[in-house]
Amino acid sequence: MTSWTELEQQCKSCTACRLCEKRHNVVFGVGDPQAKVMFIGEGPGEQEDLQGEPFVGRAGQLLDKMLFAVDLDRKTNVYITNIVKCRPPMNRDPQDDEQESCIGYLREQTRRIRPKIIVTLGRIAGMKLIKPDLRITREHGEWIERKGVWMMPMLHPAALLRNPSQTEGAFRDFLILRDKINEVCPEVYHRQ
Ligand code: URA
Ligand code: SF4
Repeated sequence: MTSWTELEQQCKSCTACRLCEKRHNVVFGVGDPQAKVMFIGEGPGEQEDLQGEPFVGRAGQLLDKMLFAVDLDRKTNVYITNIVKCRPPMNRDPQDDEQESCIGYLREQTRRIRPKIIVTLGRIAGMKLIKPDLRITREHGEWIERKGVWMMPMLHPAALLRNPSQTEGAFRDFLILRDKINEVCPEVYHRQ
């Protein structure tokens, strides 16, 4: 198995799909590669493309606040990445073939990190990783267990910015997440 750094290097020079054409940066991910909790969004937006880091625009700032509320932090105790690593033009949804071209990197990241908990952010990531017929507004916050890994779809923070009435439900999901961390990987909260 190639090392984490080799995987990152491979990804950063990838030209496997059309999204390589207009990107400024490949957005590989941020956080602790040994994290027990992974967050997976759909794909980089404008700021992410410019800065090379996931969730650094307005939606990302909201995500950071919600993480902070349950003692999580992008740099220390979680790992955050996306289904596709290059920005889809005009922030359109990543197409099926682009997702298929890219998902190998996510699989390799997950194989190395071996998280106990995976949270998907938004409909696209939830449909790709949890179930194709996911009804995100109804089913966010519900756990499924797959091969010993707990998975939960959450609303996308960009959707919360558009529709603030869902914020309370979204915060509830973070509390549900905190409970699950305390149950299956309490070390997330008790590190030296
Ligand atoms: N939206 C996503 O799904 N991912 C990002 O990295 C930023 C915005
Ligand atoms: Fe490669 Fe993924 Fe970027 Fe497509 S989106 S070029 S598959 S890294």
